[in-house]
Amino acid sequence: MSTVKLTVNGKAVTVAVEDRTLLVHLLRENLNLTGTHVGCDTSQCGACIVHIDGKAVKSCTTLAGQVDGANITTIEGISKGDQLHPMQAAFRDNHGLQCGYCTPGMIMSAIDIVHRHNGDLDEQTVRHELEGNICRCTGYHNIVKSVLDAAGRMKVAQAAE
Ligand code: FES
Ligand code: FES
Repeated sequence: MSTVKLTVNGKAVTVAVEDRTLLVHLLRENLNLTGTHVGCDTSQCGACIVHIDGKAVKSCTTLAGQVDGANITTIEGISKGDQLHPMQAAFRDNHGLQCGYCTPGMIMSAIDIVHRHNGDLDEQTVRHELEGNICRCTGYHNIVKSVLDAAGRMKVAQAAE
């Protein structure tokens, strides 16, 4: 066992974990943050993506002990109270949700994509960047539309800050 100290969605947490504990299990089982999903456990589907120090990372293949001291954001931490994050709002408005299983990982990945490209995205880039996120509903069209819409909304939101 070892002790891991993290900041999760802005709150400091200290958790005793076994050395083999994966970050996704710490989030879901120790902290009850079940918005982060497990779809494959083999780093292929992206359902488990969270932000570690601002970058999208697959939490199913990250040991909790590896991220001691890190700042973690999960899908539960991106809205401002009742106000959805622009990416969440864009998924809702463009019907990017479908069954919703892959959605938390898609959204966390997509926010990072928008940041890395400074909001300058085209369809081809979004499709390429989302290669690490699998949607079993196979309806990528509305997901891509959502990300492109959110890129514009995030620019507007940033300009307003
Ligand atoms: S559960 Fe992590 S990539 Fe699928
Ligand atoms: S929305 Fe169903 S798996 Fe993606």
